[in-house]
Amino acid sequence: MTQSIGFLGTGRIAEPMIRSLSRRFPNFTILVSTRSHEISSRVQTLNNVSASPNQYILEQCEIVFICLLADVARKVLPQLMFESAQKIISVMADISLEEISSLIAPASNPCVTIPLPFIEQGGCPLPVYPESPTLETLFGDENDVITLSSENAIPPHFAATAILSSSMKQLDVVAHWLGEHAGSQRDGERYVANLVSGYLGAMPKDGADRFKQAMQDLSTEGGLNNQLRQHITESGHYETLRNGLDELHRRLKVATG
Ligand SMILES: NC(=O)c1ccc[n+]([C@@H]2O[C@H](COP(=O)([O-])OP(=O)(O)OC[C@H]3O[C@@H](n4cnc5c(N)ncnc54)[C@H](OP(=O)(O)O)[C@@H]3O)[C@@H](O)[C@H]2O)c1
Repeated sequence: MTQSIGFLGTGRIAEPMIRSLSRRFPNFTILVSTRSHEISSRVQTLNNVSASPNQYILEQCEIVFICLLADVARKVLPQLMFESAQKIISVMADISLEEISSLIAPASNPCVTIPLPFIEQGGCPLPVYPESPTLETLFGDENDVITLSSENAIPPHFAATAILSSSMKQLDVVAHWLGEHAGSQRDGERYVANLVSGYLGAMPKDGADRFKQAMQDLSTEGGLNNQLRQHITESGHYETLRNGLDELHRRLKVATG
């Protein structure tokens, strides 16, 4: 395995990936673009990370992560010379594999994955297409690398990441409501955060229909959970959620052609 890993783009998603790799592979050299001065200065305080021009990164690294905005990639990548043996991993949401392939030639067979900022701590699901032994080697020990069956499965996974913010909103509403009624905002938040993370942590780590099973377990006739879920269902909330996901999916499909 190579000793040098490169990052084109040193932005919000590159930083936690760089931190994770730096922590777990202290003997590897990590080269990052000399951009986003604040972030690249921060990551250069890590022992094995340094910033370099994009072309130098490509000359030194057998594995290269592309962490650019798609429109920037369209402008920047054609000016760079890739190596045919390079392994390219893109994290870009709105560009197809076909287009990435045309931008990185003579390198070939790029893969796309979807890291999230908590990859720094581990436990991040990493959908990828096509299969990438390189991604598995670099991140699979701490994160769940899920190989997808086709490129068409990438946009709905990007869409599904958008559930995080609305889930946080829902938890925030409950925490505030609890704080108002029980007298302490801080304890309200503490209770709700531990309630949900404890419940998720105790669920089986793999298998089918785990959410359905959990809902059944929480569906005692006349029980509190049952009553609140029915109330929210009747409001049309879950239908709205599905419609929102459909809308995001359409947007991402258009962007990736
Ligand atoms: N953020 C997430 O949670 C997340 C999750 C999954 C996937 N993604 C995908 O990751 C990609 C990057 O997203 P982001 O949120 O990290 O965006 P970002 O914070 O804006 O990062 C983009 C990076 O590209 C750099 N850049 C611009 N022009 C460049 C050039 N000529 N050479 C080298 N670097 C250049 C920017 O530097 P300057 O600041 O100096 O312009 C910045 O460091 C997107 O395609 C997005 O879809 C993001």
